Amino acid sequence: MVNDFFKELTELLNKALEMEHQANIQYLSHAEVIDGETCEPIITRLNEIAGDEKEHAAKLRSLIGDFLDGVPAITMTKARNARTIKEILKTNLEDEKKAVDVYNKILKTISDNKSKLSYNFWKLEHDVRHIIIDEQEHIAELRRIAGMKLKEVEKL
Ligand SMILES: [Fe+2]
Ligand SMILES: [Fe+2]
Repeated sequence: MVNDFFKELTELLNKALEMEHQANIQYLSHAEVIDGETCEPIITRLNEIAGDEKEHAAKLRSLIGDFLDGVPAITMTKARNARTIKEILKTNLEDEKKAVDVYNKILKTISDNKSKLSYNFWKLEHDVRHIIIDEQEHIAELRRIAGMKLKEVEKL
């Protein structure tokens, strides 16, 4: 029973890991394609966010391997090209929203099954919660650069 649950949770975390791989590569690529007078601070920020996504991937690998006895995914969700600053911000805001949705589901699964996670619950709960906070900060930052209201982001 517990093993089945570990398998299910590992699958969810691996789905998130594939999204983190994608996010890391996508931000790095997008940072290289924009130009213009105002691009410099945006390039810096995209590269910094790419670094956060890399750290998230490392955290997930440890949760899967060290705390669930699983095998971390080596594949990635399909990345998307974007050319203009506007397109780049919209694409990544959409993906950050998807990431928050996936992590909310994972955090709920962890919380609902605390009794099956005697020796790993707090580590899983802590790390996933911190990743969600980072993704919500990414949404806030991209939204401000894009000059969008939160309501507009919700509709994307
Ligand atoms: Fe992330
Ligand atoms: Fe993010």
